[in-house]
Amino acid sequence: MSRRILVTSALPYVNGAIHLGHLLEHIQTDIWVRFQRMRGHQVIYVCADDTHGTATMLMAESRGIDAETLIEQIREEHERDFRGFLIGHDNYYSTHSDENREYAELIFTRLSDAGLIFTEEVKQLYDPERSMFLADRFVRGTCPNCGSPDQPGDNCDVCSATYDAMALGSPRSTLSGATPEVRASEHYFFDLPKYTDFLKSWLASGTVQPEVANKLGEWFEDGLKPWDISRDAPYFGFLIPGTTNKYFYVWMDAPIGYMASFRNYADRHNEVSFDDYWLPGRDTEVHHFIGKDIINFHALFWPSVLDASGFRTPTRLHVHGFITVDGTRMSKSRGTFINAATYLKFMEPEYLRYYYATKLSGSVDDMDINLDDFVARVNSDLVGKVVNIASRCAGFISKQFDGVLAAALDDETLWQTFTGSAEQIAAWYEADETGRAVREITRLADLANQYIAASAPWQLIKEPDQRDRVQAVCSMGLNLFRLLVIYLKPILPKMASEAETFLNVEPLSWADLDAPLLDHTIHPFKPLFARLERETVDRLIEASRETPAGASASPAATGADSRANASSADPDHISIDDFARVELKVARIVDASPVEGADKLLELRLDLGNGEERTVFSGIKSAYDAPSLIGQLTVVVANLAPRKMRFGVSEGMVLAAGEGGSEIFLIRPDSGAEPGMTVR
Ligand code: 2FM
Ligand code: ZN
Repeated sequence: MSRRILVTSALPYVNGAIHLGHLLEHIQTDIWVRFQRMRGHQVIYVCADDTHGTATMLMAESRGIDAETLIEQIREEHERDFRGFLIGHDNYYSTHSDENREYAELIFTRLSDAGLIFTEEVKQLYDPERSMFLADRFVRGTCPNCGSPDQPGDNCDVCSATYDAMALGSPRSTLSGATPEVRASEHYFFDLPKYTDFLKSWLASGTVQPEVANKLGEWFEDGLKPWDISRDAPYFGFLIPGTTNKYFYVWMDAPIGYMASFRNYADRHNEVSFDDYWLPGRDTEVHHFIGKDIINFHALFWPSVLDASGFRTPTRLHVHGFITVDGTRMSKSRGTFINAATYLKFMEPEYLRYYYATKLSGSVDDMDINLDDFVARVNSDLVGKVVNIASRCAGFISKQFDGVLAAALDDETLWQTFTGSAEQIAAWYEADETGRAVREITRLADLANQYIAASAPWQLIKEPDQRDRVQAVCSMGLNLFRLLVIYLKPILPKMASEAETFLNVEPLSWADLDAPLLDHTIHPFKPLFARLERETVDRLIEASRETPAGASASPAATGADSRANASSADPDHISIDDFARVELKVARIVDASPVEGADKLLELRLDLGNGEERTVFSGIKSAYDAPSLIGQLTVVVANLAPRKMRFGVSEGMVLAAGEGGSEIFLIRPDSGAEPGMTVR
């Protein structure tokens, strides 16, 4: 029976480029969607950009454009990148849309009417200069546990302690450098604890993998807490009905974006009914593909909110782990933080689709991209095993038999072996155990190659009375190849389409497994995949490598409302909060002297106010006589990591303009400035 299935991938944040992490999820989803379609089911696959939140506001501000313009630009980039990887979203929409506003308001009103919304005062750090409340990631200060300075607002990089931002010593706002104040404001909460029993039974109904259910069990043990769904202005998002300065928290309207994208699609497709997919009790399915970091949003809040507002709950969550590259987290300085657009400059999208497919196991374990293994799998499996079958057989059929395949199968048993795996392979696809499916498919490819090698058509062709055998063997080989193409088509849609052209057949589906191609004319064979050279991968890594300066910006400092693996979408700009991390201060040069053995350097002793003195080595000797600088004010980068030089440690950097030589001009503040003043 044909199923009607709505499928989603998590909505990428608007503030970063699509990278290998997003691709894992969207490729996994796309494979599943294509598989279902090949099985004759009706699937609608929607996605959107996740646009709301402080990060979007700050990013637009730093680019000097309005948020709507930014959102549109990024959406085009995201769509382009996904298309490049053959991801077939039926609709790629935006959470900043009329449909999403409508559903967010409707859902909130229904929750409110059901008595599931309450308000409570929340105390939070507030930036008096920017006039806004500060999420933890916009605060840094001294760790309350180990005393390390300049630690993030929620956990310490040095001792790993987690804490409340209000517990930090000497806190400062990363947006303005100001000292935050504690202020109270009214927040809106969704009464999640009331949904505890509902969630327990929803989760027991096979909606999540067992490991995920276990993880959720831990949260139940601790007791569910009400969920804070509001944020104060200024915020980029939707106003909460009945308020003038409270916005829906981005995570409130993000999953509603699944509905909004679907609504937008349904409005353009008369045959699709929104209600069929979103009201309870209909004969349809909803599947969400997500990463393990956002389980709570999809397995606790989302089903509760849906149920409480009269909508259906998801059929199944497909949760995956994170990726590592060569055993470690993706890293900009190592060049393993690879963006989709960069990858596509060097390689075929299907290499990555295939490699990910070999790794998908249906579990939430992290997945390693081992670059040597990646090259080996592509070359040995795709080129060496699968494509090889066609290239070994096609030439004989085209040249010797006018492209016509034999009228009967040469080896019925081998055919049965191949088709006999179909249901098992399908079951693995269904269960997201795509890696097992691929292993079975490559095992079959080995059998096909053994069959061809044992029959050796290249020998037979030398004997005139063996011509029929050559046609029979090569036709058998191509029929086996066709079965492999069917099995691999969800993973390799482009290869499959080229193979369909070569085999001169209509688009293949699972039902085509039953009938072999007999007495059928094929087209000349063109190579389907080139070998992948390790050198190409190395060039991709080089192109992805960022300079240490760029790489050192921590995710917390990018202003990204994102997981650590999101990147800045714009290599040409830094964000306002990147800039805010640079601490510029007025300093007085209290001593200056040439450095022995260094012909460009002066050693400067700087007074930074409040009794703080530093030594800085500066390459300005060619333009300044040391004694002339004593007593002068200048500007210093005060939080530059100390650098050990041959002559001593340099504890900052003074700012100067000019090309060098006598053309160096020290930056000096106007009169009235005092050592220790912050420069902004
Ligand atoms: O974690 C993320 O990248 C979020 N932008 C995912 C949102 S998924 C959905 F709920 F909208
Ligand atoms: Zn600490």
